[in-house]
Amino acid sequence: MASELKGRDFIGDLDFSKAEMDLILDTAWDLKKKQANREPHPILRDQVLAMLFFFSSTRTRGSFEAGMAQLGGHAAFIESRTTQISHGDTERELGAIYGRYFDGIAIRHVDWGVGNRYLNLVAEASRVPVLNMQCEIYHPHQCLADVMTIIEHKGRDLKGKKIVVSWAYASSYLKPISVPQSLILQLPRFGADVVLAHPPEFPLMDDIVGEARDQAKQHGTGFEIVHDMDEACRDADVVYAKSWGPLLTTTDPEEGKKLQDKYQDWITDDAKMALAHEDAIYMHPLPADRDIEVTNAVLDGPQSVVIDQAENRLHGQKAVMALTMAD
Ligand code: CP
Repeated sequence: MASELKGRDFIGDLDFSKAEMDLILDTAWDLKKKQANREPHPILRDQVLAMLFFFSSTRTRGSFEAGMAQLGGHAAFIESRTTQISHGDTERELGAIYGRYFDGIAIRHVDWGVGNRYLNLVAEASRVPVLNMQCEIYHPHQCLADVMTIIEHKGRDLKGKKIVVSWAYASSYLKPISVPQSLILQLPRFGADVVLAHPPEFPLMDDIVGEARDQAKQHGTGFEIVHDMDEACRDADVVYAKSWGPLLTTTDPEEGKKLQDKYQDWITDDAKMALAHEDAIYMHPLPADRDIEVTNAVLDGPQSVVIDQAENRLHGQKAVMALTMAD
């Protein structure tokens, strides 16, 4: 599967052109069909992916690991705290050494102001592709699965479709801002009109919002920011509502929780979904704070596509690995 993508890193959502994203999507659907038909597709036979985690995961770990096995290779789970990585190995050493052991290095590091830099330093020193399993700025493989899922439900041409990327209340912890940032960067390239909704204390990074506006302008799509969840949901085709921390306002967990607690009515419930189009879909990357971020009725209801989203993590990532790692 030789391609222009061979050897390339996937760290930021715009690392691949729109044409390259289309190739990845087509490959993902092809691999999804092969997997459904139990047709062997050992594109990465004998190859090994390192999966380095600085933060916990259910879907990302499971889908990368299953994906490598289905492609005929293996994924090695490496955890920062149980290796020397948390207290000694530098990013450059890790990139250089793991680049000699492995055929790809996937990393999750969401620490504020640290994670993205870490991935880029490893990538500079590595001779194999570095894949972002989520940093504090981007979650590109989640976004790839999200785009796949939206297209499966709404069609390939998203022109004129209103996609709401909304903040939602959560009480558990200050969640990263990488999911909404990836979405607002990627969705304009597929023709969608994006409405970003959040309380004033929960902005995304200025340069990411600026890039999203540029993408929207370039692709002739709408991009709007509102501070009212009801207004955002009105006539939406997709309601993608999840919590994120007020990390541009404060990184202090207690202060952040106080800010979050002001907005407990930002929950996706039947009333919010009733404002959207009748055939609107509800999306969330999971895990969700049930009956806090979203009601059980919506999360488990007929408009929810969260299980499709989670499944598409597998197929999207297999496509990225096949195209970046195959000989
Ligand atoms: N959506 C997502 O990234 O899930 P995990 O944190 O479980 O990997």
